[in-house]
Amino acid sequence: MVSNDLHRDIEAVLLTEEQIQRRIAELGAQISADYAGKELHLIGVLRGAVMFLADLMRHLTIPCSCDFIAIASYGMDTKSSGVVRILKDLDDSIQGKHVLIVEDIVDTGLTLNYILNLIRSRNPASVRVCALLDKPERRIVPVEIHYLGFTIPNRFVVGYGLDYAQKYRNLPYIGILRPEIYGGV
Ligand code: PRP
Repeated sequence: MVSNDLHRDIEAVLLTEEQIQRRIAELGAQISADYAGKELHLIGVLRGAVMFLADLMRHLTIPCSCDFIAIASYGMDTKSSGVVRILKDLDDSIQGKHVLIVEDIVDTGLTLNYILNLIRSRNPASVRVCALLDKPERRIVPVEIHYLGFTIPNRFVVGYGLDYAQKYRNLPYIGILRPEIYGGV
């Protein structure tokens, strides 16, 4: 159970648990149809994408495997430079595999752009992106999202894998965090 304290920090629910789960089922069906007759290798971007990948995978009817990568930017000031470092690399080779990168949110696009370049350099059979959330107003680098859950406004959202200071990931919905929590306006 989620403690009431977490819910009290939420200004409004942007996407309910039901909305999220319904959309993930649709995405799972679409991806299963698109990759029919093939095997799919999911790559989850830690840590935010964990919930989404776990739920999405359960809606895939094709054979699939998964691996995880963790990267970190060098802090907010340098984030716009696109400089990131790998905290945890993939465990398995992706050569010749059909890869689906699974992200919780695409914001500036810098993380995804970096991961796409890294993955493409390792000779997979194909690469596509599945993201639960897209915040297009914040984009710095254009990136193609092949499978998208929801486009959202430029608000500070938490829950369903997304955190503020490592908290709120366990909320089953996506909520807008009260500005007083993060010192915003
Ligand atoms: C978030 C999110 C994406 C990235 C998107 O990760 O999971 O990976 O930021 O932002 P961008 O498009 O501006 O690069 P974060 O660095 O917060 O780590 P986390 O997943 O561990 O929360």
